[in-house]
Amino acid sequence: MSGFFITFEGGEGAGKSTQMASLAASLKTLGQDVVMTREPGGSPGAEAVRHVILSGMAEPFGAEMEAILFATSRNDHVEQVIRPAVAAGKTVICDRFADSSRVYQGMSGALNYEFVEQLQLLAINGMVPDLTIIMDIDPKIGLERAAIRRAGPADRFEKETVAMHQKRRDGFLTIAKREPGRCVVIDANQDQGIIAADILALVNLRLGNVKGQGNERT
Ligand code: TYD
Repeated sequence: MSGFFITFEGGEGAGKSTQMASLAASLKTLGQDVVMTREPGGSPGAEAVRHVILSGMAEPFGAEMEAILFATSRNDHVEQVIRPAVAAGKTVICDRFADSSRVYQGMSGALNYEFVEQLQLLAINGMVPDLTIIMDIDPKIGLERAAIRRAGPADRFEKETVAMHQKRRDGFLTIAKREPGRCVVIDANQDQGIIAADILALVNLRLGNVKGQGNERT
């Protein structure tokens, strides 16, 4: 039996981590086998690359280099962790995935969108999420929240301007409009408990639907 692959996307301070943890806990109490993972990273190989990217070490070598590093780490994560878990019937919940590259490197970054899209084809190798939850928030509110929460210095991508964060927000919303079957936009500026209940209801519905219709992925 094939499992289910959920990704969470969105800008800084949208509350992805809190909602992912809440969803995972709820699904576990329902008896689901849940795997929580994240990008960049998620497999030993990809975690090794994570620091190179987020520290800004790769930045001087150009946007292409960074995008390819994201893609190569994503491919390792897919093949080592995500695909085997889904094939074993588990529910995988991943913090960021290909849409983050589409938005951060493509739509709001320096690169040609088609270049980034081609990289995603190679990186995910058919492992398209069954459901993508886009946590949507006004960047001003999100950045304030992220600054309060942050222990250390801002990472390479958190340092950008509000205008850049707005571009990213628009990018995620564009993807959601383009792929309404896969993506659901959640208003992240609501009570955390209400958001958690909405997400759980949505996931339960989708899990039921997928099982009822027979998920083709093996
Ligand atoms: P991380 O510390 O994992 O945090 P968060 O998801 O809470 O923002 O930081 C990951 C950063 O990397 C984030 O700023 C988004 C960026 N990113 C990309 O630019 N492209 C990608 O493909 C991914 C997965 C992340």
